[in-house]
Amino acid sequence: MLQPIVAIQQFIEAVRDSGYKSTSFAIAELVDNALEASADLVDVNVTTGSERSSQRITVVDDGTGMDPEAMQLALQFGGSTRFNSRRGMGRYGMGLPCSCLSLARRIDLYSWQKPSAVWWTFMDLNAIASGTIVSVPEPARSSASLEPTACNTPSGTVVVISECDRLEFRRIRTVASKLCHDLGRIFRRAIGNGKTLRVNGRSVETIDPLFLDRSAAAPGARPFGPPIEFPIRAPGGDSQQSTVKVLFSELPVNEWHDRSNEFKSASGVSKGAGVSILRAGREIDYGWYFMGGKRRENYDDWWRCQVDFDPVLDEMFGVTHTKQKINPTEALDAILTPQLEAVARELNGRVRRAFTEVRNYDKRSATDRAAVRDSFLEPPRPQRLSEKSSKEPGQISRGVSGLDYRIEERRIDDGCFFVPSLSRKLLQVDINTFHAFYDRVYRPLVRSEQFRELSYRDAMELLILAFSRAECSLKKPEDRAVASRIRELWGNVLTAFLG
Ligand SMILES: Nc1ncnc2c1ncn2[C@@H]1O[C@H](COP(=O)(O)OP(=O)(O)OP(=O)(O)O)[C@@H](O)[C@H]1O
Ligand SMILES: [Mg+2]
Repeated sequence: MLQPIVAIQQFIEAVRDSGYKSTSFAIAELVDNALEASADLVDVNVTTGSERSSQRITVVDDGTGMDPEAMQLALQFGGSTRFNSRRGMGRYGMGLPCSCLSLARRIDLYSWQKPSAVWWTFMDLNAIASGTIVSVPEPARSSASLEPTACNTPSGTVVVISECDRLEFRRIRTVASKLCHDLGRIFRRAIGNGKTLRVNGRSVETIDPLFLDRSAAAPGARPFGPPIEFPIRAPGGDSQQSTVKVLFSELPVNEWHDRSNEFKSASGVSKGAGVSILRAGREIDYGWYFMGGKRRENYDDWWRCQVDFDPVLDEMFGVTHTKQKINPTEALDAILTPQLEAVARELNGRVRRAFTEVRNYDKRSATDRAAVRDSFLEPPRPQRLSEKSSKEPGQISRGVSGLDYRIEERRIDDGCFFVPSLSRKLLQVDINTFHAFYDRVYRPLVRSEQFRELSYRDAMELLILAFSRAECSLKKPEDRAVASRIRELWGNVLTAFLG
């Protein structure tokens, strides 16, 4: 008895297990297709299906659309208008059917190249299982009642995936927000180049794991060195040469080390160590690649790497039809790893040193901190305090930069809590031990004793209120101007010291 080469029902059930690592990587196949069809807008909607328990995902684009023949190819396994092309993202003819069926039991495909002729076809697992359909149904003119959205662009495509039984999450909101996050990262370059992606009406914002993109959430890293380029010849007879571009970035340890854990986890700083792999400008993997013998450590969260390659080198990167993972060949490893591992080790060392400095800095006394930060401030002009002593006639006063600080405690017989005096490079502050603030707040605080009557917050607010009260009680406008100027400068200096 003759056996068909493909046992269609079993084949499709097996294809459902293609192994997309997330709903987002499956939906990314549909976004790839839309972008390759020159879409400017890709709208993804996650909603409840006709049965309340089921979910449905609709992907609408304003690309070139397909004619009925191309639509049949689109739903066929292996059907492609660009088989083995290396010019863009698609090349296998598997993306659309594989990704959709890995999530759902039914696909409806609508496409139009002019608004007056919208075509429709579908694939339904139940119909295939029962033998009702054995080939991709010929597209029919779609009636308005079937169309999932107003097809109001000159051309475009709508893919509806329904009876979703394999989404990662049950709640629509969770699916949508995960998609929004992941697509922002996978398609960061396309969005940066002006394409619009939306998920449930919300524009997808770029997420840059290197923290370099100014338009993305939480920028703030610096590129580490210039991009490194590796010209590589693809294996095979008529092989082409292509350049792999590698970029490293260094996250700002000084600025971010004491940010909240929520910030570090939400922005992807913590547990984010790794290399982002971009193929044809879209992220297809993120992991610990080309690092040779270097093991991943927590310090490595603080630098990032991006490897950009062209589909010409697919075989060397070991790309498969699900476009979500690489498996580099030994030849590629031998080219990239020595240099990338060396930079990774250097960056790890820099991060370690930055953390050591930060820890030492945190242990410093207030006077040490002030001295370190003083160089950020405009130097005070010393002539008022020591006018007679130092200045030769005609000499321009430059002020003293890099002050040292000292705090002394002594009895002062007026209402001031503190009195500053500047002598050469030393700014000495005498704290009045007979001031109420000293007794009630300052001393217990600096001696780490417990407050008996006041909370820290009350103490700080009293300090501010006392200053404000004093300033507001000044009668002469010129006195108030001076006090206000002092408050302004004091605020600035305090900000600088707190760093
Ligand atoms: N949104 C779309 N707009 C226009 N044409 C599309 C769209 N989606 C799919 N197609 C057509 O359907 C074909 C099959 O798509 P599919 O994603 O299955 O394979 P592919 O993109 O060719 O290759 P790959 O498997 O690598 O993604 C494409 O070659 C393209 O011609
Ligand atoms: Mg495709």
